[in-house]
Formats: sequence, structure tokens, C-alpha cells
Amino acid sequence: MLPEILLAGLKVINTIAALKALLSPIKLAQQKIALVPTMGALHKGHVSLIEIAKHHAEVIICSIFVNPTQFTDPKDLEKYPRPLEHDIEMLRAAGCDFVFMPSVKEMYPLPEEWHIDLGPAEFLLEGEFRKGHYQGVTQIVKKFFDAIQPDAAMFGQKDFQQVLMIRNMVVQFNLDIELISCPIIREEDGLAMSSRNIHLSEADRAHSLVLSKALNFVKENFNSFPIDELLDKAQAIIKEMEGVELDYFTIAHQDTLLPAVDKNEGNLVALVAAKVGQTRLIDNVLLF
Ligand code: PAF
Repeated sequence: MLPEILLAGLKVINTIAALKALLSPIKLAQQKIALVPTMGALHKGHVSLIEIAKHHAEVIICSIFVNPTQFTDPKDLEKYPRPLEHDIEMLRAAGCDFVFMPSVKEMYPLPEEWHIDLGPAEFLLEGEFRKGHYQGVTQIVKKFFDAIQPDAAMFGQKDFQQVLMIRNMVVQFNLDIELISCPIIREEDGLAMSSRNIHLSEADRAHSLVLSKALNFVKENFNSFPIDELLDKAQAIIKEMEGVELDYFTIAHQDTLLPAVDKNEGNLVALVAAKVGQTRLIDNVLLF
């Protein structure tokens, strides 16, 4: 763990007490604080969250914490990339003010129970494949919100269901924090940026393009086919690709994630999850 030092404009903090002490004068001066929570292995998608955060606040805090309670597979937790030096350098270059990098003991000093009602959407899509995942996500995000009490928090739209679950948590606790869902940042060929992309072999990387291709197909042909045909065609595009195992491809309501029946219902989103080689990827596109 890096010590609590000032790195050319970026301050690294490891404890909640140090964080609170540092933020107290900022709050007294009524400066706005934006939080960008991450699990590290930062890429241009994270940098875009920081850029957006700068439009909402004077002070930007990024957290890097690989949260054990949201992993449903211990192997996934173990192999989660942790390129700390690279992350720090990226945050410094992006103009982030503080990085909060607590230990697991700092965030979970005692065994604790956490269960909140996130609504029926918790059990759909990712919730079906990663049982309990959103309880872990909301548990740690609530801890960050309590420690920092930011004015705004940025989340990537790539984890569409995560944003919805955190929104439901914020409503449940009546928190006065503006949640901002930030657009997906893609590689030039369409692959949505993700910390997990690092695990893709060269062949996987080529195969993974089928996900954005299927989503684009739905977006571009939204007015040409009924929903069931759009789904059939998109699923067929993915199933034809070797090395890709489809978990789901759905067109759903943005607020409930329930499957859409009619295109005129409005506020829809197409969501996909698939295993590409050994790596599970998710992606989505908004449909209006
Ligand atoms: O999206 C992520 O990286 C994580 O789920 C989050 C929001 C930082 C909570 O651990």
C-alpha cells in the first residue's frame, strides 16, 4: 500500500479518519466534492468520469478498492488486476485531487450483515448470474458515501444495472447525492472499455467485437423490426461467433429492467452479457 503522501498534486489517503480530516476544511469552504468510485485497473473510461466530475465539483476524489463483498467467485476476486502504480499515474495525469485507497480491514473492521431492498431488478440479468453482487456493491458505495459525503458521484453507464441499483439505494436512504451516469467509452473498433479486457487473449479480443456489433444492429434497426425479431437477430449474431457464450441479450425498460414488449413503451435499453473465452463481458446501448 502506498503511504499517505502528496504526489505532485494528487494526495493518496488510506484511512477514513485521514479522509475526513482532509475534507473538513473543503466542506467548510463550501466547495463541491465529486466522488469517482473505482476498483482500479483504470482506463480511459475512468478518465472520462473524472473529466465529467470536474464539471460538477471543485474537488475530485477517486477511490480505488477491490471490494471483496461484491465478488461472487473467489477466483474472480483473486485475479482482478491491481496495477497500482499505473493507476496513480493515470489519476495524477487526469487531474484528480485525492485518491482514497483503503485496506479491506479499514472498510470492513468487523464482520457485518448488509441487506437492503433494491427492488425486483436486483434479481434480474446480472443479479441472476451473480447472486448477491448488488448487495456488495451498494454496501461499499454506501460506506464511501458515508465517509466522504460527496455532492455528486460518477458511475459508468457500461454497468447499467449497477447505476440503477445505486440509484435505488440512494432513494432508500434518502441521500442528498447527485448520481451521474456517464457515457460508455469504447475502443476504436467498438469494444466497451473495461478493466476486464486485459484478460482477453488476441482471439478473444477479436471475438468480443460481436457484442457491440449486436447492440449496434439493434440501435440501427430499431425502427425496422418488432422487438422479438430484433432480439432473434441480435442473439443470432452473437451465437454464430465462436468462443462467445451468450448469457443474455435483452431489450428492457431502463427503470425496471423488465423485458420490453412494445417499442413505443419508450426509455428502453438493450443489454448484453457473454463469456468471451474465460472473461465475462457486459455492454449496453440506450434506445429511445
Ligand atoms: O464499478 C465498480 O468499479 C464497482 O462496482 C464500484 C462501484 C467501485 C463499487 O466497488
